[in-house]
Amino acid sequence: MARAKIALIGAGMIGGTLAHVAAREELGDVILFDIVEGIPQGKSLDIAEATPVFGTDVALKGVNDYAGIAGADVCIVTAGVPRKPGMSRDDLLGINLKVMKAVGEGIKAHAPNAFVICITNPLDAMVWALQQFSGLPHNKVIGMAGVLDSARFRYFLAEKTGVSVEDIHAWTLGGHGDDMVPMVRHSTVGGLPLPELVNQGFMTQEELDGIVKRTRGGGGEIVALLKTGSAYYAPAESAIAMATSYLKDKKRVLPCAVHLTGQYGLSGLYVGVPAVIGAGGVERVIEFPTNDEEKAMFAKSVDSVKGLMEACKGIEPSLK
Ligand code: APR
Repeated sequence: MARAKIALIGAGMIGGTLAHVAAREELGDVILFDIVEGIPQGKSLDIAEATPVFGTDVALKGVNDYAGIAGADVCIVTAGVPRKPGMSRDDLLGINLKVMKAVGEGIKAHAPNAFVICITNPLDAMVWALQQFSGLPHNKVIGMAGVLDSARFRYFLAEKTGVSVEDIHAWTLGGHGDDMVPMVRHSTVGGLPLPELVNQGFMTQEELDGIVKRTRGGGGEIVALLKTGSAYYAPAESAIAMATSYLKDKKRVLPCAVHLTGQYGLSGLYVGVPAVIGAGGVERVIEFPTNDEEKAMFAKSVDSVKGLMEACKGIEPSLK
């Protein structure tokens, strides 16, 4: 069978890391696209020259023309600008919305059958706009945020409890902003829900609260340290997990920004929820039962996303 074709729209820090991991994992042939000449060509040649060392047989190519992404099975979008210290993800909206329009039109013209994963921030609004600009079906356009936020949550829990990251399942839902919703009751270490870990003395309630707070500010913590941009290793790995579940029809349950049609009482917007990702794209949304406190946190987070959607509509009246 022919290799899968993976188009990476944006060849910056995350795009380059995606190309590296996709080639190393032998996920398929990689096309790196960027508006800057030389960067996608240089990064793809550099990684191609590493394939004999990896021992993987994949082709990599850098392009500046959307024709190069023709026939892509997966498109992962990181085109746009990242934040700098002192900026929120929302500050990126004006610039990145224009980028989403160009990217959406490029995908529509050249890769209409692709499964599209958006990473560009502010995530929930950008993936919502990208779906409309591309005209692709909702089940084939999703956003990467929850896998990353949940991975941060899992890492902090592993560090605190001394338990393997593999035995920690944690869920962060809602919008990809500072009011995202870490689902404490539904997250487990070795099968035990987090409140039970507090009961058993693995950590205090204050320590758990501190982990939740650090998870919410996880992106900003990296921005403050790097000073020149935002996180890229963990975001790239998270999107690769989503692409792999689609390409291999693994049907993993991954927290992703997906289009809701009544689940969690919401319709007509993208927000982070657990979803089954397989060959059909988004095959199903999993609904966690929520108590009043979780409902209130979810509603607050969703309000932030709706505010960003309204701001987008003000700039691009074609959006609805
Ligand atoms: N079309 C294609 N590529 C573009 C466009 C465009 N219209 N505009 C900008 N780019 C490219 C830039 O040239 C750059 O190579 O997008 C790339 C972005 O790379 P970085 O600046 O390194 O940003 P990165 O860290 O990869 O983050 C990308 O993901 O997590 C989010 O907030 C982050 O929105 C940001 C995005």
